[in-house]
Amino acid sequence: MRTSHPEKSVSFNSYLEQQRNRIEAQLQRLVPEESEKPAAVHRAMRYSLFAGGKRIRPIFCTEAARLLSQETNPDMESIACSLEMIHTYSLIHDDLPALDNDDYRRGKLTCHKVFGEANAILAGDALLTLAFHVLATLPHTPAEVRAALVAELARAAGTVDGMIGGQVVDLEAPNGPTTPETLEYIHRAKTGALFRAAVLLGAIGERADGKQLEAISRFGANAGLAFQIMDDVLDVESSRESLGKTTGKDLLQKKATYPAFYGVERSKQMAQECVAKASEALEPFGERSGLLKQLAQFLVSRKA
Ligand code: IPE
Ligand code: IPE
Ligand code: MG
Ligand code: MG
Ligand code: MG
Repeated sequence: MRTSHPEKSVSFNSYLEQQRNRIEAQLQRLVPEESEKPAAVHRAMRYSLFAGGKRIRPIFCTEAARLLSQETNPDMESIACSLEMIHTYSLIHDDLPALDNDDYRRGKLTCHKVFGEANAILAGDALLTLAFHVLATLPHTPAEVRAALVAELARAAGTVDGMIGGQVVDLEAPNGPTTPETLEYIHRAKTGALFRAAVLLGAIGERADGKQLEAISRFGANAGLAFQIMDDVLDVESSRESLGKTTGKDLLQKKATYPAFYGVERSKQMAQECVAKASEALEPFGERSGLLKQLAQFLVSRKA
């Protein structure tokens, strides 16, 4: 069945909720049941994946697809879910004692606190692997498009300007002085790359042309940078109750963050500037890009 654009009249919040529910339902279909052997790893995967979460990357993905086509590829929700799998794997590993050593995530104890480190590492590995399996076996998408999706996601999750690259430099940062260039690199790589991939996967799944891909890529990269700057701001300004994860830790762990380097107010301005750049990139799409622009603004206005 082809999917069409959501009702224009629904409010932005109910639009988000509607999108989340669709992603949630598709994730449920894609991840092995807890009862499936070996149950320990499926329990840990599902515990973290279904602990909540804004599902913002999948929503970016499906909305980028809708920018190109009113009736999107019937595999689009699965494509979107692959991003959430990579994202959740990155959170499970980010929280491990060897990385950020966090006890709370998505309002619950972290995966390793509940299932032990070994199972948390394996659950992360399993979600990473499942993401690529989902893309490689999409039933309605031609092989060359599937290959392009796999390549783009692998690049974003990888070491060269990708998520792992960013995480490595993030971990090194407390041991030396931070420069503005390093800070921007960390944020663009550890978080921006997956946002960029989110919208690119949506666009690739709809056979976007080179110019469209370039515009969408610029949108995603800048929106992703804005998102991580706000994540740093919320670590300073918010609480565990509203965020569902421990706050105030970046300072304690001497993380390279925008508020530490520029102060909270300037960081907020910078995040807003990134959103403006992101929106500008979508100008060629005209009015159709309204919802994506709204989503980018949501990244910096959010309180959780
Ligand atoms: C948190 O991401 C980790 C970062 C990359 C900053 P989200 O804020 O999207 O986390 P969930 O998915 O909503 O839990
Ligand atoms: C995480 O950045 C980026 C990832 C790739 C997971 P953070 O370490 O700031 O994310 P939170 O604050 O723990 O969610
Ligand atoms: Mg981290
Ligand atoms: Mg962390
Ligand atoms: Mg953070």
